[in-house]
Amino acid sequence: MDFKKYIADVPDFPEKGIVFRDISPLMADGEAYKAATDKIVEYAKDKGVEMIVGPEARGFIVGCPVAYEMQIGFSPCRKKGKLPRETIEVSYGLEYGSDILQLHKDSIKPGQKVLITDDLLATGGTIAATIKLVEKLGGIVVGAAFFIELEELKGRDKIKGYDIFTLMKY
Ligand code: PRP
Ligand code: ADE
Repeated sequence: MDFKKYIADVPDFPEKGIVFRDISPLMADGEAYKAATDKIVEYAKDKGVEMIVGPEARGFIVGCPVAYEMQIGFSPCRKKGKLPRETIEVSYGLEYGSDILQLHKDSIKPGQKVLITDDLLATGGTIAATIKLVEKLGGIVVGAAFFIELEELKGRDKIKGYDIFTLMKY
């Protein structure tokens, strides 16, 4: 399937100079959303994944249907102040700004094999922060899967040594 057909390219959003790669047309098409999800399930299926972690908000869109299909759990990694129980946190930078991400302390068991999901890999700031949180809790990151990779931002360089799958490259 030509997945790029379902990505809307929006210039100067959320700020001047950024081309926003919007996945909402892909999500709005049931067949395309399922086909993209199936590709990630196919990538993950022999990795012994026991838990999926995705950063707010678009990491949920990618990770939850994969978790459902694989019959495993999903732990949300959220922006500061959203998780109600005891958390750990890390601050990070991304293509347009900076923020703080948190995980519930009991969201991962030590030694658990974790797949991280998100819609898009840009500078790698978000994924590096998510990996840091998972590892702080003793999780083992067995892979990271994305719909989109913006190659010129070299996000892969920030997470060298990890197994990364991306469906579309720009
Ligand atoms: C976007 C995107 C990734 C991140 C990628 O999320 O969904 O999580 O940026 O950029 P990076 O590789 O440079 O870190 P954003 O923080 O805009 O949040 P949202 O999903 O809540 O819109
Ligand atoms: N997150 C970081 N950079 C992005 C971009 N160019 N498009 C969509 N989401 C993003």
